[in-house]
Amino acid sequence: MSHDYRGTQSDPIPLTRPSLPPLDEMLEDFHTVFDSGRLTNFGPYATRLEALVSQTVGARRVVSVANATTGLMMVLNTLPPGTEVLLPSFTFLPTAQAVAWNPGLTPVFVDIDRNTYNIDPDDLRRKVSSNTSAILGVHVFGVPCDIDALDRIARDHGLRVFFDSAHALGSRIGEDAIGAFGTAEVFSLSATKVVACGEGGVVATNDDTLHRGLLNRRNYGFSIDATDSANLGLNGKITELSAVLGLHLLGGLQDRVSRRNQIAAAYRSGLSRVRGLRFQSVPDGSVSTYKDFTIEIDPKEFGMTRDGLRAGLAALGIETAPYFSPPIHRMTYFRERFPVAEPLPTTDQVSGRILSLPMFEDMTDSQVERVIESVEAVGAGAINRLGKRSAG
Ligand SMILES: Cc1ncc(COP(=O)(O)O)c(C=O)c1O
Repeated sequence: MSHDYRGTQSDPIPLTRPSLPPLDEMLEDFHTVFDSGRLTNFGPYATRLEALVSQTVGARRVVSVANATTGLMMVLNTLPPGTEVLLPSFTFLPTAQAVAWNPGLTPVFVDIDRNTYNIDPDDLRRKVSSNTSAILGVHVFGVPCDIDALDRIARDHGLRVFFDSAHALGSRIGEDAIGAFGTAEVFSLSATKVVACGEGGVVATNDDTLHRGLLNRRNYGFSIDATDSANLGLNGKITELSAVLGLHLLGGLQDRVSRRNQIAAAYRSGLSRVRGLRFQSVPDGSVSTYKDFTIEIDPKEFGMTRDGLRAGLAALGIETAPYFSPPIHRMTYFRERFPVAEPLPTTDQVSGRILSLPMFEDMTDSQVERVIESVEAVGAGAINRLGKRSAG
């Protein structure tokens, strides 16, 4: 073993860390914003960001928003009240909160595919009712959903398809970037994402009516062509400083995604020698952003639960996160108001076993190796929870 695991807390490895462009490269644009005095309200940088995202993901219309949560809330607000939205429970909390914030929309949770962790088309089809208006897919950790299957179900039942693409700016299916599928895709630009503006988001769509619907909602609900308000609205504006960051970060998107895929390949190869671990599948021909790199721990084979491994890694200064555990249908607000009619066995199993390992573009190869060796050592019982080598 090449590392001394004792004392590594002084050299911690974070779960994530934004890799920002050199400040010097952005100074001119920051000066322009400061000199103009225009910090927000759909300024020139927000407009340029929308144009660059449109070009990057191949969608005709892009609307910048304050964050993905508000983007999702507004997209879903275009649905008829009194209807149901089908979505996975294995996702980050805001996916479901965005549904619940809309008066009259009911979230209906669907199980996930055992390999990709994305919404399971078979369970989805079973859960469509005469009240369903939309499917809200999530490209979990950057792995694209089974778009064809979702489109087929939507066509058969006259549903809309939206995507929570918070993790997937830079993901692809073949030659097609994630961003132009379904009626709209909602990206997050928050601090943990591959394009990390601090806070921010963008909605991509080819649907002119939806585009107009978003413009009529994101400025507090003021209509774009009048002083009237005909819709629910909120403050959905991105700031100019966030937009500057976004523009500079988008330029390097391909390189960022490539580096993350390199790290993921190193993790997969190094961890394949450890018994009791499974990895998320990326369908052939698809590219994931690896917004998160996750492992699934089979406690019997690995010899320890997910929580045991997590504590062992924490003692070695390695930060991890149990994304997504507990799943949303088990959280109090949703359990009480939107109880599931049937269990979600795959969601429950994956949630109980999942762990995200450190993943950021500036991670060094030796940091990746240290994480791999630490997982192996904790699993083998060579390291106890205090980060000390076990005797013998
Ligand atoms: C799957 C998913 N959806 C939505 C969001 C919300 O994004 P934002 O923080 O931009 O509101 C996140 C944030 O991490 C997320 O992971």
